[in-house]
Amino acid sequence: MAISSQDFNYIRNVVHEYSAVVLEPGKEYLVESRLQLLVHDEGATSIQDLLRRLRADLSGELHRKVAEVMMTAETTFFRDVRPFETLKMVVLPELLGRGAQDRSLNIWCAASASGQEPYSIAMLLHDSFPLFAAWKVQFIASDLSKTLLLRARKGSFTQLEVNRGLPAALLVKYFHKNGSEWQIDARIRDMVDFREINLVKLWPCLPAMDIVFLRNVLIYFDMETRRTILARVARILKPDGFLFLGGSETGTQLEEIFEPIARDVNACFRLRRIES
Ligand SMILES: C[S@@+](CC[C@H](N)C(=O)[O-])C[C@H]1O[C@@H](n2cnc3c(N)ncnc32)[C@H](O)[C@@H]1O
Repeated sequence: MAISSQDFNYIRNVVHEYSAVVLEPGKEYLVESRLQLLVHDEGATSIQDLLRRLRADLSGELHRKVAEVMMTAETTFFRDVRPFETLKMVVLPELLGRGAQDRSLNIWCAASASGQEPYSIAMLLHDSFPLFAAWKVQFIASDLSKTLLLRARKGSFTQLEVNRGLPAALLVKYFHKNGSEWQIDARIRDMVDFREINLVKLWPCLPAMDIVFLRNVLIYFDMETRRTILARVARILKPDGFLFLGGSETGTQLEEIFEPIARDVNACFRLRRIES
């Protein structure tokens, strides 16, 4: 049975209030199939039973679970390739050269889903920039989903997941087989500090960042939310820091605050310098 438009609007509001993610009209089928996943987990008898429980949920716990299950968590290792080449060829060499004094590197990978993105960065650092081993590297990855954070912290991936974007040489070097899954080595896993951060709520105290990855999440928000988050990111970036966005996430009046770097105009940005 398809959910009614009243129920669909109710779920849209629950999701929007929790995450600012906008579920476009026409996504009823998606909402229904994802609610179905929760029906079983929650021991409900049907979607209607689940919705009744949701409306009576005073703790907010079921609201959280419903919002989380509606998130699109699509991700791969080294997604889109080019941003990681830019990181390797431009950003990390520049930071390495520039930071010889205080030898600290702060990275934040926001909306990190099941962990493939931060682990790609960690492998790149470990594999290609051994000099950073002598630096104080603080690497935070975050998401709002507790379920995804649990998976990411574990660092265990299916065959299908490692087949998507992970070069064979890095699979051999940094993973071992554990039953039917591939476990990432502790030396990579322990480089990343996974935290629960909701981008549209209060952020915890974070250090000034050299690099922020904020990829493929702004697209789910309305324009005003995108702008607000980008302005907050600008405040947390060091003056010479770098921001990585997904390929289709420009055009948010971003140009007022950030300028693209020449090698990767669609995905990598610096804070615009104010001429005095
Ligand atoms: C499509 S995934 C992107 C994963 C990764 N950044 C990438 O590009 O491959 C979007 C992620 O954004 C997270 N997300 C959505 N709304 C969020 C919010 N308000 N705060 C933090 N994370 C959010 C979702 O839980 C999901 O894991």
